[in-house]
This record gives sequence, structure tokens and C-alpha cells, in this order.
Amino acid sequence: MIAKLVRNARIYTAEGSSPSSGEAQGSVRFYPDGAMIIKNGLVEDIGPWAEIEKKAASLEFDEEIDCDGRCVIPGFVDPHTHMCFARRREGEFSLRLAGTPYLEILQKGGGILSSVRAVKEASDDDLFENTLSLALSALSMGTTTLEIKSGYGLDTETELKMLSVIRQVGLESPLDVVPTFMGAHAVPEEYKGRPEEFVDLIVNEMLPAAKKQGIAAFCDVFCEEGVFSVAHTERILTEAGKLGFGLKVHADEVHDTGGAALAARVGAVSAEHLLAASDEGLAAMAGAGVTAILLPATAYSLRKPYARARAMIDLGVPAALATDCNPGSSFTESMPFVFGLGVMAMGLTVEEALVAATKNSACAIGAGDRCGTLERGKNADFLVLDGETPAIIAYHAGVSPVDEVYKKGERVA
Ligand code: NIG
Ligand code: FE
Repeated sequence: MIAKLVRNARIYTAEGSSPSSGEAQGSVRFYPDGAMIIKNGLVEDIGPWAEIEKKAASLEFDEEIDCDGRCVIPGFVDPHTHMCFARRREGEFSLRLAGTPYLEILQKGGGILSSVRAVKEASDDDLFENTLSLALSALSMGTTTLEIKSGYGLDTETELKMLSVIRQVGLESPLDVVPTFMGAHAVPEEYKGRPEEFVDLIVNEMLPAAKKQGIAAFCDVFCEEGVFSVAHTERILTEAGKLGFGLKVHADEVHDTGGAALAARVGAVSAEHLLAASDEGLAAMAGAGVTAILLPATAYSLRKPYARARAMIDLGVPAALATDCNPGSSFTESMPFVFGLGVMAMGLTVEEALVAATKNSACAIGAGDRCGTLERGKNADFLVLDGETPAIIAYHAGVSPVDEVYKKGERVA
């Protein structure tokens, strides 16, 4: 048994294992002189030093971690990334800056489709190395659990190859990685103008193959004008639900197609993006308890108005924050950047952003019972920040305020 003691910490953590919404979105426990006992990588006890001191007296510790009065928070959980790709798309970024719309680039065979070509050409090793290096960069900025989607394969073989690479990144790094199948990320060139037939392929071949492979926990679909319609998305997610996948939707990112309401209808865990979501869509999400995954770095990179986070929280929709890390619409693996945008550009309070980037994001990938908060029985995944409160993350803009990263009680960055 390995026992550790964390001391002199100003600890801020949400509590519980289900998504927080409404007023609870900003509910955070604060221990000004906090301490934590860790046993075998799990939180054994957490609380004010005055209480922990008594329990600690009867124990022997393998390590004492003195935080010098710095702020401690749970490790970030990034619940939405497309980090498994082979090549950057810097040229496309310049095109977008010069005015070409994101979806127009895709329609002309670039965008996601150029990443598909690159992934098909890449060896498994290269794809693994690229993904691992982004994941480790995210880890150095405090991400301890991460979702990664497939979706740059768009044929059965390449989608399964991506999923095994994604699993491997989790096995060979300190991070916990949650894989998502996203065969419905774009209509591939071979199926141009025949989306219906590609949806048939997904339903009849890809989903059963991904199920048999047993790696992906979730299924996600890009529901958007010119990509997958609401009807296509509903068909895919209904089939995925029957196979036991958790459901996610890229909803109302560029246009309001009714994706938010669809997420509520099919019982999705989360709807992501929602830049253009309607009031009715958000109300339906609130009614069904669907978490909104806010991706402010995408709005930033696409130069679009941010999703209406305040309206969502007021309606009672649980909000989570994620990077959307991908080579097109959001090339960042930094949760501190996203946290800062959540506070400064979307109007979240620091406490709301903290819950969004830890507990609610853990719940959105089915990991709420093991991470996202610092509580007895959960992973001792925590960050020591170069500051006194989590506000430092937004305040010290453009840098990572993360001094130390611990995964299951081990210092990993
Ligand atoms: O979430 N919108 C679809 N998928 C990603 C972008 C992927 C890409 O451009 O490569 C997103 O924005
Ligand atoms: Fe995305």
C-alpha cells in the first residue's frame, strides 16, 4: 500500500458524481487550509487540516506533498477532442482567415476530408506518435482524463485503426482516455451526393464492427447542413443506442438544424458546440438532462459568436467545457485556454467554469464516478496551480498556470 499526504493546499473541488446544473453549476467546496490522504492512488480522505491531522497522526506516509499554500483543483477532464490525426492544416487556417467559410472548405473536399486522406496514408506508428504528443502536451497543462474521437477514417478499417491507436495512447501514457466512435464525421468522397448509402454502411457495417472491437464507449455524429441531416443522425444514434453505445451529437455548430432537440429525443449524454442552438432546443436539453459541452476555442478559431452559456445555465442545462482539439476548427489542447475563454468570453463565473471543466466534463464521458472531483474513493487526480484561487487560470492569460500535475497520486508533469 502506498500512502501520501497532501498539505498546505487551498483546495477547490465540486462534489458528487452526477452533472451539476442551474445554481449548482457554481457550487464548489473550498478548504482554505486543506489536506488530503491518498491511498493507492485514490483519495482516502479530504478536508481541513485540523481534521485530517488527527487521522494522519496514526499513519505512515511514503510521501508528503507540501503545496505551500497554492491552489489545488481536480485534474481537468477534456470531454471532446479529435486529437487523433496525422497532419496539421495550417494552410486551411490561413484560407479561413482570408474569408473562406469552414463548411465551404469541407464541401470542396478539404477540411475533415483532407485529414481523412492523411490518416489513411499514415502508419499506425506515426498516428500513435502524433496523438500521444498532443495528449502529453494536454497533460502538462492539467488534463488528466481525455475523450478522443475517431472520424478521420470514414471506412470501417481506418475507423477501427484509429480506435486502437486511441486506446493505445491511454495504455502508454498516464492519461485515462475515453474513445468515441465517430464514423459519421463527414460524408467521404466516394459517397459524395449519396449520404444515405454511407449512413447504411455506418449502420450495417461500421457500428457492429466498432461494437465487436469493444474499444469505443460512445458514438458521436456531426449533425450539420450539408453533412448529416437530423434524420440521418437520428437513425445512426438510434442504432448505436441499441448496441449499447453512449450517445453524443455535434449539434447546431454552424446552423440551427434542430440538433439540440434531437440530442434530447434520443437520450444523448451530451450535445456539443450549440453555437446556433435555439431556445426550444436548449429547453429540450434541460428537460432531458443533456449536458451542453461548450467548445469556446472553436468559436474563437471560427470567429463565430460564442454559444449562449448563460442562457443554458439559467435554463438548467448542465454545462461542460472541452477543447475540441482538432487540426481544423480548434487547434488547441489547452484546457487553461478554454477555461479562460469560458470565463472571459462566455461569462461563466470561475466556479461555474471549474465545475464545467472537471465534474460535468467527467460525467459527460461516463467517468463521473471515478474522477472530476476530489472525494473519498475517487482518483487522486489533481493540479497544483501557481496561484491562490482557480481565478488564476483566467487571470494569467495565455500561459498555463499549472505547476504540478498528479495522476492517481503520482506526479506526472
Ligand atoms: O468539432 N465539426 C466537426 N468536427 C470538428 C472539426 C473537425 C475538423 O475540422 O477536422 C469540430 O469542430
Ligand atoms: Fe468536435
